[in-house]
Amino acid sequence: MNTLIAPSILSANFAALGDDIRKVEEAGADWLHVDVMDGHFVPNITIGPPVVRSIRKIATKPLDVHLMISDPDKYITDFVDAGAAVVTVHAEASTHLDRTLNFIRSHNVRAGVSINPATPLSAVEHALDLADVLLIMSVNPGFGGQKYIPYVTEKIRHAREIIDRRQLRCVIEVDGGIDVPNMPEIIAAGAQVLVAGSAIFGDPDPARKLKEMLAIAARLSYHSNVV
Ligand code: DX5
Ligand code: ZN
Repeated sequence: MNTLIAPSILSANFAALGDDIRKVEEAGADWLHVDVMDGHFVPNITIGPPVVRSIRKIATKPLDVHLMISDPDKYITDFVDAGAAVVTVHAEASTHLDRTLNFIRSHNVRAGVSINPATPLSAVEHALDLADVLLIMSVNPGFGGQKYIPYVTEKIRHAREIIDRRQLRCVIEVDGGIDVPNMPEIIAAGAQVLVAGSAIFGDPDPARKLKEMLAIAARLSYHSNVV
């Protein structure tokens, strides 16, 4: 598969969200990454199901909903009903990850599991065949505009090995601090979906910036015989 780019709307202008979404969709965004924060699992509060529902009405691309919330099971159905195509929970917030991933899949949407930078892959390894997406955080979640944590590249590489060896269809997505200069390293390590917030919406011309990132992604895509 080609490397996909998922602009994170966290760095968009919330007062003109529809315009910003249209801009990145027209420029070729593959997924729209929606960061949901509860002020408990992470030290920030963002948006909930009503906003996702409004976005769904105007968006044409899949909504990739990243739940940075405690007790995610309580809200999964609400986000699916609001229009999520991918629902990702954090392993650190999920007491029964196996059950949660099955629960997400029972709604006929893609199930994702995310790990914070300091969480080892072994925390999710056994559940990877229940996941459609492994979202590897490359910053501590909570805010846009942070710096990519270099040791995460090794974790992406390791995840790639595990997924290829077991011939899983789980896609590797990486989130945090991604911009043009570090894209080659992250893609070479085996990432297939790159989330980018401030790199795109912090640019004076988000459409141009996204096109630049998409061109790099198309050139450097990780080629696997599995996915
Ligand atoms: C961080 C969020 C990210 C964030 C990425 O907690 O999960 O999706 O929006 O933003 P940048 O690309 O600015 O690091
Ligand atoms: Zn995110």
